[in-house]
Amino acid sequence: MTMTVATMMCMCLLLLQLSITFFVFMCCVGNGNARITSAFVRSEFPSVDIPLDNKVFAVPKGYNAPQQVHITQGDYDGKAVIISWVTTDEPGPSKVQYGTSEKTYYYAAEGTTTNYTFYKYQSGYIHHCLVDGLEFDTKYYYKIGSGNSSREFWFQTPPEIDPDAPYIFGIIGDLGQTYNSLSTLEHYMHSEGQTVLFVGDLSYADRYQYNDVGVRWDTWGRFVEQSAAYQPWIWSAGNHEIEYMPYMGEVLPFKSYLYRFPTPYAASKSSSPLWYAIRRASAHIIVLSSYSPFVTYTPQWLWLAEEFKRVNREKTPWLIVLMHVPIYNSNEAHFMEGESIRAAFESWFILNKVDIVFAGHVHAYERSYRISNIHYSVSSGDPYPVPDESAPVYITVGDGGNQEGLAGRFRDPQPDYSAFREASYGHSTLEIKNRTHAFYRWNRNSDGKQVPTDSFVLHNQYCMIKYEIFSVEKYALTYIYIKDTKYHLYIIQDFERGIKSYKIFDLLTNLITCIRYYVLVNPSAVYVYICMYIYICVYIYIVN
Ligand SMILES: [Fe+2]
Repeated sequence: MTMTVATMMCMCLLLLQLSITFFVFMCCVGNGNARITSAFVRSEFPSVDIPLDNKVFAVPKGYNAPQQVHITQGDYDGKAVIISWVTTDEPGPSKVQYGTSEKTYYYAAEGTTTNYTFYKYQSGYIHHCLVDGLEFDTKYYYKIGSGNSSREFWFQTPPEIDPDAPYIFGIIGDLGQTYNSLSTLEHYMHSEGQTVLFVGDLSYADRYQYNDVGVRWDTWGRFVEQSAAYQPWIWSAGNHEIEYMPYMGEVLPFKSYLYRFPTPYAASKSSSPLWYAIRRASAHIIVLSSYSPFVTYTPQWLWLAEEFKRVNREKTPWLIVLMHVPIYNSNEAHFMEGESIRAAFESWFILNKVDIVFAGHVHAYERSYRISNIHYSVSSGDPYPVPDESAPVYITVGDGGNQEGLAGRFRDPQPDYSAFREASYGHSTLEIKNRTHAFYRWNRNSDGKQVPTDSFVLHNQYCMIKYEIFSVEKYALTYIYIKDTKYHLYIIQDFERGIKSYKIFDLLTNLITCIRYYVLVNPSAVYVYICMYIYICVYIYIVN
């Protein structure tokens, strides 16, 4: 019997298809919902604060030289920044000169000066200056101080609010000022993060007493300046910002924090700097205060109800919540402390399809599956969290490296809701690619190198579509439902635009992009995708 060329080609194709299906299947099996408690144990620096005379705390030279420079977003949409700094010799000037060319400052803005006492500590002159009316996606240079002691910095404004605006956020929590803190900060600064989402517990100055509390706030301000003067840090408050210290006569909660770290709360119609929202690129970011009243009818509760109504997922499809205390935490440290805020807000997170909730507080790393516990009440319902596709992913990044050390004892066995957990120091990055997909990574500080340790592709909750990887009629690959596994980004994008319109050249270009990313994320997946791309290229070549 004579076998035609076409028949042989079909058989080859079928064989190839079966092989690829097998690889994809094995890959999916290997990366299913296996819970992971990482056994990694790292050698760490001692959990002690860096000595005061270390160069990371160096005071800039010159009379009244600005120090502790940091910036944060100054409005709702990212066309303004608040620039803050401290001077020690005299109150003025509080002016910021700025422009779009280095050392050419056509514009100026006038700030305000304040100071405070804490026990017998007298703070320096704290300056806050709102610089608004900026252009999107533009690099600005700015200069503060005067004469020989003036200092110059720069920052980049975000792209205009747009559902497909790419953007990279860093997430850091519970940082402190130890050598581990320094390691975390340096690792983050080597990432491509454009803005830090800080999930509370900044300086750990409250671990000190009397005048040293203020001193350690100053050292922390100088410590983070290397990053915070050049890109916005979006602040949220933790328990170490409360500083309720009646034995020193200090009973006003968040006093040091509120004097030093302004937030654009009024722009989101909040009545307190401790809870607010901003929009940046394609993300709507809601900052909550774990240590302010949040039960029904409190100001924070009422504000959040209104803020969720202001979220427009057509403009900012990514909805991110920051808070200090995690809602889902399987560490022995702070276990169940987030239960009351879960009872207050979890149903809203589900209803509004929040994409991701970042928290700190627990000095370890943990990521949950999409789960919820909203059907449980005192009198009825299942008391355990259940899989819920409308729920956010909960991530705890309280592993910045402060002097309290790691929270090394996880509850055993690992609960079903916990996807990955490890007691190491590190930070996370969320790389938003477009309205549908983002890359998430947790990067452990390890032996002086940044190591991506936990990572996955995040599908947007609002724009989420149940994709088929490949359903070309005649040579259909098995239907594959994409879940939140570790890969699948670029190939999915390709199929969104229709496989039949693709040219081989485009596919190869995407293949290179694919490899670039998956080598970093999951090397074993690269092989699968190379096979798939070859398959697609061959298919198109034959069909066309
Ligand atoms: Fe905390």
